Amino acid sequence: MIGKLNHVAIAVTDITAASNIYRDVLGAQISEPMELPEHGVTTVFVNLPNTKIELISPLGDDSPISKFLQKNTQGGMHHLCYEVDDILASRDKLVAEGATVLGDGNPKKGAHGKPVLFLHPKDFCGTLIELEQV
Ligand code: CO
Repeated sequence: MIGKLNHVAIAVTDITAASNIYRDVLGAQISEPMELPEHGVTTVFVNLPNTKIELISPLGDDSPISKFLQKNTQGGMHHLCYEVDDILASRDKLVAEGATVLGDGNPKKGAHGKPVLFLHPKDFCGTLIELEQV
């Protein structure tokens, strides 16, 4: 069911500092920062030949990544995003398998303007999973 790894997301406290590390130290090509109020994050994408890294920092007071950054004060790996062809069919299959979809269970528009949803880490080896319909 899952296809390509679309991106690995890394939560950071300072998105400018993190972007500079990826651009200047690691020599990667990065995007401009984009605010996603619906998700409570600011994102910068690092474009690699085979996938992307999504740097995310908190946006607003009740960002879903604030708690993560309180526990992981240096930042850290936050989620993996896998591509799927049909997000609603994938969701329904996963729910039938016992997985927990976060939020109200319906896809939201993600950083690429495509439908995304998140699956609880408890069902996937301790890793938060994002599905993106491509
Ligand atoms: Co993501």
